Amino acid sequence: MNTLNHIAIIMDGNGRWAKSHNLPRTMGHKKGVEKVREIAIYANKLGIKCLTLYAFSTENWKRPEKEVNYLMSLPKVFFKSYLKEIMANNIKITMIGDMKDIPLEAKNIFKEAIKATSKNTGMVLNFAMNYGGQREIVRAAKKYAQDYKDGKIKNLNEKTFNNYLYTKDLPELDLMIRTSAEERISNFLLYQVAYSELIFMDTYWPNFKKEDLDKAIEIYMKRNRRFGAIDENKSN
Ligand code: IPE
Ligand code: IPE
Ligand code: MG
Repeated sequence: MNTLNHIAIIMDGNGRWAKSHNLPRTMGHKKGVEKVREIAIYANKLGIKCLTLYAFSTENWKRPEKEVNYLMSLPKVFFKSYLKEIMANNIKITMIGDMKDIPLEAKNIFKEAIKATSKNTGMVLNFAMNYGGQREIVRAAKKYAQDYKDGKIKNLNEKTFNNYLYTKDLPELDLMIRTSAEERISNFLLYQVAYSELIFMDTYWPNFKKEDLDKAIEIYMKRNRRFGAIDENKSN
């Protein structure tokens, strides 16, 4: 059995789901928000320690302004509807990404939710907002270089570098799931994904069900994680 502490999901396919229902793309995002609630509460019940959700990438600003504005209004919709339930389920909210470009209202809503849930001891529900893996690494490298120059760190290695990433306080990433059948990472958790298991699922995010998470976990549990070593119980 593999241990499973941290799952990340690239929630993709909202637009195509909407299109397949003759709805505007925004309706796909709306439905996607409801799925965030359902899957987060379920993952917490399963005992997952951390769930990181890709909500908005540093590349998503390329979309039409109307869609970007709609996406930036969703944190308010989400926390207004579900913060009570999140509290009742003992879930702790955190956030990773480049905060500076996020509109003030969304930023404040997040800050409130982070503060309100800061003492909760259940699953960490970590939102990646205006997140880009390359930006995270460059940001970390800048701080790392400065701290080295200032004599604050002596040893430059993977372990000390890890402390400069947004995810420094989170468990190691075990499993990354992408919905919508696209098979790419799209700049998500590039450093952290080094030895994660990857599962690509043929389901648009608005159609994603608890059973799909069960299925992904079942597949993950059967994977033989070697981390570059060899499996000494087998003869090959
Ligand atoms: C994922 O769904 C949500 C975000 C990227 C914010 P998409 O909006 O990318 O949906 P598709 O890929 O166009 O179907
Ligand atoms: C990745 O999905 C970003 C999020 C899910 C937030 P995209 O739809 O933006 O990725 P690409 O463009 O298909 O790679
Ligand atoms: Mg997409």
